Amino acid sequence: MTKQYKDYVNGEWKLSKNDIKIYEPASGAELGLVPAMSTEEVDYVYASAHKALKEWRALSYVERAAYLHKVADILERDAEKIGAVLSKEVAKGYKSAVSEVIRTAEIINYAAEEGLRMEGEVLEGGSFEAASKKKIAVVRREPVGLVLAISPFNYPVNLAGSKIAPALIAGNVVAFKPPTQGSISGLLLAEAFAEAGLPAGVFNTITGRGSEIGDYIVEHPAVNFINFTGSTPIGERIGRMAGMRPIMLELGGKDSAIVLEDADLELTAKNIVAGAFGYSGQRCTAVKRVLVMEGVADKLVEKIREKVLALTIGNPENDADITPLIDTKAADFVEGLINDAKEKGADNLTEIKREGNLICPVLFDKVTTDMRLAWEEPFGPVLPIIRVKSVEEAIAISNQSEYGLQASIFTNDFPRAFGIAEQLEVGTVHLNNKTQRGTDNFPFLGAKKSGAGIQGVKYSIEAMTTVKSVVFDIK
Ligand code: NAP
Ligand code: G3H
Repeated sequence: MTKQYKDYVNGEWKLSKNDIKIYEPASGAELGLVPAMSTEEVDYVYASAHKALKEWRALSYVERAAYLHKVADILERDAEKIGAVLSKEVAKGYKSAVSEVIRTAEIINYAAEEGLRMEGEVLEGGSFEAASKKKIAVVRREPVGLVLAISPFNYPVNLAGSKIAPALIAGNVVAFKPPTQGSISGLLLAEAFAEAGLPAGVFNTITGRGSEIGDYIVEHPAVNFINFTGSTPIGERIGRMAGMRPIMLELGGKDSAIVLEDADLELTAKNIVAGAFGYSGQRCTAVKRVLVMEGVADKLVEKIREKVLALTIGNPENDADITPLIDTKAADFVEGLINDAKEKGADNLTEIKREGNLICPVLFDKVTTDMRLAWEEPFGPVLPIIRVKSVEEAIAISNQSEYGLQASIFTNDFPRAFGIAEQLEVGTVHLNNKTQRGTDNFPFLGAKKSGAGIQGVKYSIEAMTTVKSVVFDIK
């Protein structure tokens, strides 16, 4: 019988009148039923959260940290159990799914510790008119209130934890909306918060399709901060609906790997393939195009090709490198990009093959800027190689993208790499490594259509707090 999952609201597990059936993308098997919350139920979530805010924010950092450490311990204990379901629900290799849960526990522990280091400051007047010299400002951080955390299908647990833990340690209360495909895993994450015994209403879940309840949960005046990871169109929509309220948006990307003549080509190829094809390319930070200097292109392309041909293709439970994509719409989109590149004359160096939603990894050489693949985010296992004549051309093509998440530069000339990094319109530049989010205490952000706001544990806490000054005059 299909397992029925429940939402966690105000310290209780709750059913809704309607459900959504979740299927495994790889096998098509039924995985479970999750509630499709009504707008009245969302109102109750938000009212319960606000009721809990006063007492939660009144706790000391050390008291809130103790709850978070408990949650992290539970996740570590249950990592294999949750990972097994997560692997099935989003067709992610089993080992990667387990590491996603462990990484979430690590973020939660780190956020708890970081909270202990939160401090305000005392400012002295006197820098302006003479009368101000007696003024003192005591500046302290305060929670923003109710944080709505929305995670995407590709990291439904980890990109939830990276929002929820910094929000809670800062004294906020949380409503967490997981992606529909990923909501069972999200509710398993909620079980850890429930078992850790957080006071009722501090942490709550909302399940339901974004297309049905998304606007309602975002526009609702009870929400004080929206922390979203997902696609750029939905992020832009949320940005418009947020009005004056603060937001954090982690959106799409088109990360370039720029390869110079002096690069270590073996290391470069290894990182490019891992970066482009990990979780079948369904990572915001995946390497999504290679901009290689013509002089080393032939050698690099051959090395990349060998490694792409060695990728394993199959099912998530066998830890295959390439697994079926999340749904048919995603696979159709990737196929469209592949067909466009092929029709416009790109050389496919691996076989183009699709079985259902499983797309075999495709390496395209000689991709040109008139092809969609040069600009669009596939979120699938296809990698375009664009040959360039100069570093300036590589920088120009990289910056022409509407996105600006990350980039990699492969070279042994570090001063030159720093000079290039300075010119790239992205949030992070990696030297001699693949583009990637971690480690999770580093700032993580996107320029242009890749996002707004800065994540990374300390930065997330800062974003989800505001400052309040108390000013007085000394005698
Ligand atoms: P998505 O379709 O935008 O969905 C993301 C989340 O938003 C899901 O929970 C979804 O719920 C919800 N949602 C949908 N419509 C909504 C609305 N109107 N209001 C509020 N929430 C709404 O993205 P995805 O397909 O899950 O994830 C893939 C995309 O995310 C890619 O573009 C990728 O680059 C990006 N991403 C970016 C980062 C980053 O850090 N920059 C990280 C990971 C992923 P439903 O599932 O119920 O529709
Ligand atoms: O999909 C986007 C994630 O934030 C990527 O994280 O680089 O650690 O795989 P990752």
